Amino acid sequence: MSRIRIFDTTLRDGEQSPGVNLNKMEKLEIAKQLERLGVDVMEAGFPAASEGDFQAVKLIADTVRNVSVTALARTRKEDIDRAYEALKNTPHPRIHVFLATSPIHMTYKLKMTPEQVTAQSVEMVKYAKQSFPEVEWSAEDATRSEWPFLAELIEQVIDAGATVINLPDTVGYTTPKEYGNMFRYMKENVPNIDRVDLSCHCHNDLGMAAANTMAAIENGATQVEGTINGIGERAGNVALEEVAVALKIRGDRYGYETGLKLNEIKRSSDLVAKLTGMYVQANKAIVGRNAYAHESGIHQDGVLKNAETYEIITPELVGVSSNTLFMGKHSGRHAFKDKINAFGVEMTEEEIRTAFKNFKTLTDHKREVTDDDIYTLIMEVKTEQ
Ligand code: KIV
Ligand code: ZN
Repeated sequence: MSRIRIFDTTLRDGEQSPGVNLNKMEKLEIAKQLERLGVDVMEAGFPAASEGDFQAVKLIADTVRNVSVTALARTRKEDIDRAYEALKNTPHPRIHVFLATSPIHMTYKLKMTPEQVTAQSVEMVKYAKQSFPEVEWSAEDATRSEWPFLAELIEQVIDAGATVINLPDTVGYTTPKEYGNMFRYMKENVPNIDRVDLSCHCHNDLGMAAANTMAAIENGATQVEGTINGIGERAGNVALEEVAVALKIRGDRYGYETGLKLNEIKRSSDLVAKLTGMYVQANKAIVGRNAYAHESGIHQDGVLKNAETYEIITPELVGVSSNTLFMGKHSGRHAFKDKINAFGVEMTEEEIRTAFKNFKTLTDHKREVTDDDIYTLIMEVKTEQ
């Protein structure tokens, strides 16, 4: 099995969803859950965009220890310096710089020639490399760019020190065959491409983000960028849970795996939905309310005889529990302990006592305490010890 790195951008591209605005404590809560989920890289924000985002990225970088934390920057010294200030205390920092490479963006948005785009990218990657061991460079609107130009530019950016090259489908325009061919073209035409991680980043405007991502993986991508629940600009980004579970379920065909703890998926999805207010549609793949529900008599009959007749994914794989215990102020210690066991968390009697006390306090304010709430309570006690 080959390992695909997961780059989560829920806190940056995901937060660019219209109407979503997370404060720094909410961002930190999501960041801690992403760490539990086991993402390889988390993009915490865009420090040059606002003081609030700078503070949130800094707080996450100062707190999260086991995941590489990155932040977005334009190819400008002031953006890179600001990102460095926010990320300097994290053990595995990465900077993510981007510049558009398509004719339409270069002509109308940037008003730059292709030569200027190349020169600025190379100069800023060199500059970023002075402070960051890991430099990711993204060709914004790569899928509407000219491949020979892009290949030459990528070669120079790698020579300048980039360690990750990302080819975003910024406007969700590509198709699986075309996106796959683009990755193969770069693999075949850019010298030294094997020295770097090659990353895909798909938006979902035509509803093909997951299929495009799978095509990129089959053609050489080693890193997948996306968000929890697929939130993001316009129709969103690829939903990471869809790609991770597809790779697991179709491991026979693909032969790739991720480092995600798949049973943390539902919890991550619920938390992101709750804090962003972007609720998941009932029929959403992997995490929707109906994803494991069966309605028709024929299906129910089949499932009762053998679940695999109509279920390709077991709910437990992604942390969907069939447990329907209602946890509120009348619940006792026994039910609470049951929950802890169901989460698979080991706790001392003393930790259980403290967590149970905190749970009882919470029930005074909330009619129903969800699994999410209880898990957070438990984790808070565990990290305090
Ligand atoms: O979609 C995109 O092009 C982006 C870049 C900033 C990487 O999000
Ligand atoms: Zn994007």
